[in-house]
Amino acid sequence: MLKIENINKTFYSGMPEEHKLFNNFNLTIQENKCTAILGPNGCGKSTLINMISGSLPLDNGSISLKGTKISDLVEEKRSNYIGKVNQDPSKGVSLSLNILENMSISLKKGEKFSFSRLLKKKNKEFIVSKLKELDLGLENKLNTQVRFLSGGQRQALSLLMATIKRPELLLLDEHTAALDPKTSKLIMEKTIDLIKREKITTIMITHNLRHALEYSDRIIMLNKGEIILDIDSTAITEDELNSFYNNRILTNISAAS
Ligand SMILES: Nc1ncnc2c1ncn2[C@@H]1O[C@H](COP(=O)(O)OP(=O)(O)OP(=O)(O)O)[C@@H](O)[C@H]1O
Ligand SMILES: [Mg+2]
Repeated sequence: MLKIENINKTFYSGMPEEHKLFNNFNLTIQENKCTAILGPNGCGKSTLINMISGSLPLDNGSISLKGTKISDLVEEKRSNYIGKVNQDPSKGVSLSLNILENMSISLKKGEKFSFSRLLKKKNKEFIVSKLKELDLGLENKLNTQVRFLSGGQRQALSLLMATIKRPELLLLDEHTAALDPKTSKLIMEKTIDLIKREKITTIMITHNLRHALEYSDRIIMLNKGEIILDIDSTAITEDELNSFYNNRILTNISAAS
């Protein structure tokens, strides 16, 4: 359902520091599946999903989502089909607004803005029902400014805001990396509950091999802009995945240094 075809991306093209990252890159992502993307720092994971969301342009190639060529659309238009949650718990939310206001804005994304319409009773009931599904008690903090929430609560809210209009595709860029291990696991579990319940196709970048194995359907490993592993998550053990990572990536890094 997501088709990435013959993508090229070079940073600083024609300059001494030219960096050719993707060279005729192809990838197809299946509907209703969670695909994990692994790989070392700088291998191109964020660049790839930024090109999908439209925050970075492609040099050439195409990206289509359910038959629509989204690579021709600006980022704002793509955000009607794509939800995204980043690593930084302050980025996906407006800190000076309360939970209800943040959720209301997400609910009305793509429509004409009006605060009075935003806060209609029907919308409020819908928002409360969505917060309740998350089961973190955020429905009891509707008027709390988001700046007073913990990192985990903010990421849970960002996740809900990114999915409230049931996007065709959800992009998660290390969305639990800034959280402590316990909160990270909790937010991962909430994420998986939500994407399974709403049947949302998801691409999840993570450095946590165990999370990738446990929570995704398919694992893709990138290195220097190339796919070096593409496997069903049930077809590989944690030890095998670790060895593969160590042999293919860590050995390369130490050989180069
Ligand atoms: N806007 C940009 N301008 C120039 N270079 C960039 C830009 N964005 C990314 N890069 C470079 O492209 C490479 C890939 O970066 P990217 O952020 O995609 O890596 P990543 O796999 O997400 O790494 P990490 O695990 O550290 O988040 C890096 O060398 C980075 O410096
Ligand atoms: Mg990154």
